[in-house]
Amino acid sequence: MIPAVSFSSVAKAKAQTAIILVGEGGQLFDQGRALDKETKGAISHFIKTSHVFTGKAGQIGALPGPQKHRFHRLVLLGIGKPDKLGIDEIAALGGRFQASFATMKVDSAQLQGDGFKAFTAVRPEQAAAHFAAGLALRSYSFEKYKTKEKQDKAAKPCKIEIVLPAATKATALYKHQKAVTAGVFLARDLVNEPPNILYPASFASRVRSELVPLGVKVEVLDEKKMTQLGFKAHLAVGQGSIRPPRVVVLHWAGGRSKTTKPVAFVGKGVTFDTGGINLKPSDGMADMKMDMGGAAAVVGLFKALALRNAKINAVGIIGLAENMPSDRSYRPSDVIGSLSGKTIEVLNTDAEGRLVLADALTYIQKKHDPRFVIDLATLTGAIMIALGHEYGGAFVNDDKLWGQMEAASKVTGEKLWRMPLDEAFKNSMKGSISDVQNLSTMGRYGGACSAAGFLSHFIDDKRVWAHMDIAGTAWVNKDLPLAPRHATGFGVRVLNQLLTDHYET
Ligand code: BES
Ligand code: MN
Ligand code: ZN
Repeated sequence: MIPAVSFSSVAKAKAQTAIILVGEGGQLFDQGRALDKETKGAISHFIKTSHVFTGKAGQIGALPGPQKHRFHRLVLLGIGKPDKLGIDEIAALGGRFQASFATMKVDSAQLQGDGFKAFTAVRPEQAAAHFAAGLALRSYSFEKYKTKEKQDKAAKPCKIEIVLPAATKATALYKHQKAVTAGVFLARDLVNEPPNILYPASFASRVRSELVPLGVKVEVLDEKKMTQLGFKAHLAVGQGSIRPPRVVVLHWAGGRSKTTKPVAFVGKGVTFDTGGINLKPSDGMADMKMDMGGAAAVVGLFKALALRNAKINAVGIIGLAENMPSDRSYRPSDVIGSLSGKTIEVLNTDAEGRLVLADALTYIQKKHDPRFVIDLATLTGAIMIALGHEYGGAFVNDDKLWGQMEAASKVTGEKLWRMPLDEAFKNSMKGSISDVQNLSTMGRYGGACSAAGFLSHFIDDKRVWAHMDIAGTAWVNKDLPLAPRHATGFGVRVLNQLLTDHYET
């Protein structure tokens, strides 16, 4: 549950627990020193004698408050050498703190926030707001299908009052971060949802019910409309499943001028990827419910934009399909059409994401002539071979856009690594009997790059475009500072930052 964080310049609420920031080597800040005096040196005594808690970044210590003292408990949080930490690291510190603090079952706490001054690389209000954002992001859990936890819904969130002089500014910054967090949580919820519940049609309804009330226009194209319009590649991927495909188009018109060209986001939404007739091995197949992580990130991003009333015109498109083997499935060696008019030879039905994206990319460019297009997709296992779970792969055809993405990536800690777009990869996707084919003549080597090369066949000349392969980052099997294991919501934060910094008017 998200802790209820508030900021004030003088402590207002009564709290059971004090949270005290401690620098490397046990350094206390003004308020910490005052509290130490008030408790007759309990804090400095604890630090001196614990032999474990030294104030290193992320360390936590807890001691009871003296008898009859207003604080029942004093919780120390090590912040290491705070002058070295950037916004991403401060948020991560908040996230790691949240993970242990949640187990302490505290109702109310006061964080003596003057120590935030010590994070000299950023302003104190930024440090405080992003620390709080870290708490919020890490507090996520997916308990919908746990019958017992569900009953604990009445439980109240922990109240945390952060006391610092720049409280007003911190409140405003945190308001923005709360909107982003809500977007991230929606993306995670969608990815964690099992595929018998979340399939193309139910995904589309869910997007409607989540986003329409916030003022996002949501258009759903069903299989009939998709056939009329010519989404032939996308339809081919979905034809093996009893659950028909969908396209969802999102419109957020927050820009000061309604006529400013929009920015565009495209998401791969394969609600379950069995591989189709080229069936995947059973080991790990269950994880393939996350193959709509790109679509989830696009939806989460639009939620964040709407909640914080972003001054931007944005369009989004998600291609939803279930990739199943059946007597109706498309086959390896089928030649199919596409919305672009190009023909595609399907050499492997498990390379389905690029087919869905091809049509979505064509549609959004033709219909909306966007300033740039960024697609997000859990596209290849090969990107995990290259970058592990640490970095998303970014294939960008424009140095300026990449510079902006890289900066946004550094601030948010959603790490991106630039990968090559090269004619050689594009050429390797040319077909022998068709215009293009969905497997590279280069084979498995450079698989993430040839997948990007395939997509580039569907990008207009001169269109500014980035493809983010998030197969390794949308889903992880260990806890991260800002996300418990499983769905991460990767992409929402970095793209929100990109828009905030460069595209809002
Ligand atoms: N959805 C997968 C990629 C994936 C793999 C995502 C592991 C997350 C974790 C994609 O549709 C796929 O199957 N790609 C194939 C492409 C190959 C057949 C050219 C792959 O990566 O093996
Ligand atoms: Mn696949
Ligand atoms: Zn897939």
